[in-house]
Amino acid sequence: MKNLNFYLPTRVIFGKGRISELSENLKDYKKILIVSGKSSFKKSGAYDKIKAQLKDKKLVYFSDVKENPDFPTLKKGSEIARKEKVELIMGVGGGSPMDAAKGIALLSTNEGDMKDYMKGKEVKKRPLPIVCIPTTSGTGSEVTPYAVFTDPVSKDKGGFANPGIFPIFSIIDPELTYSMPDEVLINTGIDALTHALEAYLSTKATPFNDVISIHAIEIIMGNLKDALKRDKEAMDRISYASMIAGIAITNAGTLLLHAMGYPLTVFHGIPHGKANAILLPAFLDFMRENSSVKEKVELLDGIFEEYGGIVKFLKEFNISTRLSENGIKEEEIKVFVEKTITKKNLKITPAKITKEDLYELYKGTF
Ligand SMILES: [Fe+2]
Repeated sequence: MKNLNFYLPTRVIFGKGRISELSENLKDYKKILIVSGKSSFKKSGAYDKIKAQLKDKKLVYFSDVKENPDFPTLKKGSEIARKEKVELIMGVGGGSPMDAAKGIALLSTNEGDMKDYMKGKEVKKRPLPIVCIPTTSGTGSEVTPYAVFTDPVSKDKGGFANPGIFPIFSIIDPELTYSMPDEVLINTGIDALTHALEAYLSTKATPFNDVISIHAIEIIMGNLKDALKRDKEAMDRISYASMIAGIAITNAGTLLLHAMGYPLTVFHGIPHGKANAILLPAFLDFMRENSSVKEKVELLDGIFEEYGGIVKFLKEFNISTRLSENGIKEEEIKVFVEKTITKKNLKITPAKITKEDLYELYKGTF
């Protein structure tokens, strides 16, 4: 049998209304930095619920996190954390604030720039404890040791992994996702779908992880449409599936598809989940042809077939899987290829991938 490693030190508190359990889980902490975006923090109801419960704490707010957090944002946040001597970093919102919270926690105890740690600099000191409270249903960041950051200078986006940035606990309260705009619901839901699907196809996949990956895929396929109609039960299920998909990538990572999506976000501002969605059918075609897990791709095809196939499923959410219809020009492919080929995600993708393959893959989607 294949070896198995499993490490997931994050305590998961999942369920409707369970944000009310926040303060009883924070007894040991007096000074907290809350990292969030500007609008969703208040709109989701998270701000009022958190503030009302933590009256006896000193709360410091850092709400400057935009989509795709960059190095200067992390630096700014960590300077505040150091100055205010906070004991814990709480990320509230979608993937961006949660990932930013992780980077800030790391830079609050370790000197230097995030850029250096992304390049492999040793994390010598334990990051500050992190707590995550998602208000979208897709990123899975609440249960992963990962964070994705963007370098605004080199125009590069990439993932960072370190066991020290696992949240100590996360509260996944689906009620906080009810005010998500339609676009965010679709994009984050499909991001979660791709997490589960890539974890399933990964070279790091195990029979145990495959079970939870397929579990998440089936829930997302069966509920995303109803979630968009604001069916609360369906929204709760997507929230749950997104967390499960997060556990799946903690165990097995994301693959070529995520790496290929990053340039679409960096150069065209296409939201992360949508970037993955646009490239998803082409990625599956490539894996069907070239990977060592063809039977797994066929199993996925079978699940998607129940919904008329993956292209039709995405079309129902108004997602065109043609790059040309998403504002991208063919002459940009070369740069995309250069950015993608260096990503670690390719190492755990079970296929031999050359620059020519990547070029053809992008080109095939025009
Ligand atoms: Fe993702």
